[in-house]
Formats: sequence, structure tokens, C-alpha cells
Amino acid sequence: MRSIDNYDFRGKRAIVRVDFNVPLDENFDVVDDTRIRAAIPTIKKVLAGGGSVILMSHLGRPKKNPDEKYSLRHIIPTVEKLLGHKVDFVPDVTGDEAARKAAALKPGEVLMLENLRFYAEEEGKPRGLADDASDEEKTAAKKALKQSQKEFTKKLASYADVYINDAFGTAHRAHASTALIADLFPEEKMFGYVMLGELEAIDSVLESPERPFVAIVGGSKVSSKISILETLIEKVDSLIVGGGMTYTFMAARGGKVGDSICEPDMFPTALAIMEKARAKGVEIVFAEDALCADAFSEEARTAEYPSDAIPAGWQGLDIGSRAKADFAAHIGKCKTILWNGPVGVFEMDKFAGGTRAVAEAVVEATARGAYSLIGGGDSVAAINKYGLADRVSYVSTGGGALLEYMEGKELPGVAAVRK
Ligand code: 3PG
Ligand code: MG
Repeated sequence: MRSIDNYDFRGKRAIVRVDFNVPLDENFDVVDDTRIRAAIPTIKKVLAGGGSVILMSHLGRPKKNPDEKYSLRHIIPTVEKLLGHKVDFVPDVTGDEAARKAAALKPGEVLMLENLRFYAEEEGKPRGLADDASDEEKTAAKKALKQSQKEFTKKLASYADVYINDAFGTAHRAHASTALIADLFPEEKMFGYVMLGELEAIDSVLESPERPFVAIVGGSKVSSKISILETLIEKVDSLIVGGGMTYTFMAARGGKVGDSICEPDMFPTALAIMEKARAKGVEIVFAEDALCADAFSEEARTAEYPSDAIPAGWQGLDIGSRAKADFAAHIGKCKTILWNGPVGVFEMDKFAGGTRAVAEAVVEATARGAYSLIGGGDSVAAINKYGLADRVSYVSTGGGALLEYMEGKELPGVAAVRK
């Protein structure tokens, strides 16, 4: 593998896998451009070095071709604005026009391909199989797709001289553009600056954090955060648990959680996590009180109750006032802070106060010299909503990829470039 810093891009066409899977509103305007902004330095580096760029990404999870709702055409104006440069577009990723335009690229030019997931080959999962397809039919479809996936990957590779993987957010997927294509550039492959920055930031937090080190983990379900909680207990000094999963922990300990979200299947797991933390000397900080509502709605009546004594008919939708003060005081004592997941239903203003208090506490701690890393779509959306993104140390572009990497799993997109 090569280094983007030392590579001579003069006259070279670079195909760059970015993660432009960004949220769009009903008018197809980009709601959060974090991922696009993040990729700009890589694109600029290639152009400044005398190369040209072919951008490729997925958007959402389309299952057909074309699918207007998921067209990458919608985000071109945002890319052009942030890059300060015109971006050409080609709708048919594998057609003659793509090959022609790629071959005709001149130094300094940028071409973007349509959503790679319009093609089943990108993910390598057969589409359109009947529900009652037999095992033989499934096997045959998989085999046929494996073959056409090879062709698809070759086609993408044929457009360029060098491959850059800068899609950290998609690095946990072993897809044509994130992993397979790297083999077709045995030497001429490298990471972009997003990938390098993410790996360095996460490695430094996990390997040599300044202590005390706290992780704030929110989110509604214990079931989706088990392995990250277990991994973090090995690394941190304390763990702040917020969000809907609080109530599974409270109920597992015998508390009353009313109508709050709760996963009884996870009680043994929740108790085991608490036991493991105790054994390791890791303090778990739960929200002592909860802002509860009599319905899951912005119009609901609200009241605060202890998180483990919520009456029937009420559900916890945010942390309460005492918990806000507790969390902020705890965060203020820490030197390294990792935050993944909001602590309340912050999409509704009425239940956003806890997440906002956490965001502000993280910002204050950062101003006093702590290192703060925020990751995961929702916590990043929250920090952006409050305009605080540039007052924390690092905002990750990864959701699932960040969690898998922190859990110690090898990311296919990383491995393929290093190999
Ligand atoms: C994400 O936003 O999680 C990444 O872009 C990967 O998308 P996926 O979860 O649909 O694979
Ligand atoms: Mg995802």
C-alpha cells in the first residue's frame, strides 16, 4: 500500500471510495454534510497533485436500478459547494459513458458515479429471488452473482490508475467498492485522510487514553450495544449509561420502569455487564432520574421520576434534572471522553435536554483540555444540531464501522488496503 502524502498523482486517475451516505430531507437536500466535508481534503490532495478523481459511494439501501430517491445526483450541489469545484456525473456506473468519461478525465477534473448499490453486485447479495426459491436456486443465484460481481469490480477498477479508500463509515462492509476492488490494485492502493484520521483517533483513545477515561453510551437497546459495552469495560475507568437501555438495566435490578422501553430477554446480559464492571473496578453511572411522559409524543404530559420507580402509564424519554447534573459533573472530571448515542429522544425538543446537557459538558471538558471523540450517527447529529461539532476533539464519520472497530473486529475495508 502507498501513502497519500507521498504519492505522485501527476496524470493519474484516482478512484476514491467515499461514504456519502448522508441524510436527505423530503426535497433531497443534504441535512448533515459531515461525511462530505470530511472527504474534501482527500479529493483536494489528488487534484492539487495533478491527478483527477472518480468518486464512488452508496446512498441508503436501494434494491433496484434506478431508484430516484437514492440517486447521488441529489448531493452533487453540496459536493461542488464544499469542494469549490465542478463535479461531473454519470448515471450508468457500468455503461460506455462511464468508461468514456473516466478515460477522458483531465488533471484537476472530478467525476462522480451513480449510487453503487443500484447494482446487486456492489453488496454481492442476489436480488429478486422468489420467497419460495429452493436452496438450489439460491445457491445458483449466489454463484451467478459472485461471477458478475467480479466483472463489476473489474469494470470499476478499469476506470482508474490508483484506488483510494476513504469510506471509513462503510469499512465494516466487504463490498465490491470497499474491499474486493483493492485486490485489483496490488500496489497502487492507499487510505485517504478520513480513513487515516479515524484510525488514528480511535487507536489513540483505545490504546493510550489519558485517565480518567469515561465512555458515554446511549441508545435505546441493550441488545445492540452489548459487545461495545463489554469491550469498553476493559478500557475505561467509568461508563455513563443513558438512553432507553437504562430501563432494561433498572428492571433487571428489580426496579419499576412503567411503560419505558425494556428488553426482558436482556436481563441476564445486563446483570452480567454490571457484574463484570464491578469485578474490573469500573464505575457505571446510571441516570438517577428520568424525564417521563404519558405518551411517546411531543404533546405528552411530562414528570420526573427516579429511573427505577416509574409508575405504570409513564415512560422515560430523557434523563432527569439530577442525572443531567450528575453526568455533567462526572464528565467534567475526565481527561478522555468517548460518546456514542444520545441519552434521550433528542429528535423531540421536549426530550432533547439531556443530550444537550451531555454535549455541553463534553464541550466544556474539551475546552479544559480533555480529549473527546464523538461517534455514531445520532450523537453526531445531536452535536451538529447544537452547533458544537467544532468544539469537541474529533467527530467520527462512522456508526457501525466505529463500533465494530472499537470492538476489535477487523474491518474488511481496512484489511483490503493493508493486505
Ligand atoms: C452507514 O451509514 O452506516 C454506512 O454508510 C454504511 O451503510 P449501511 O449500514 O447501509 O451498510
Ligand atoms: Mg449502518
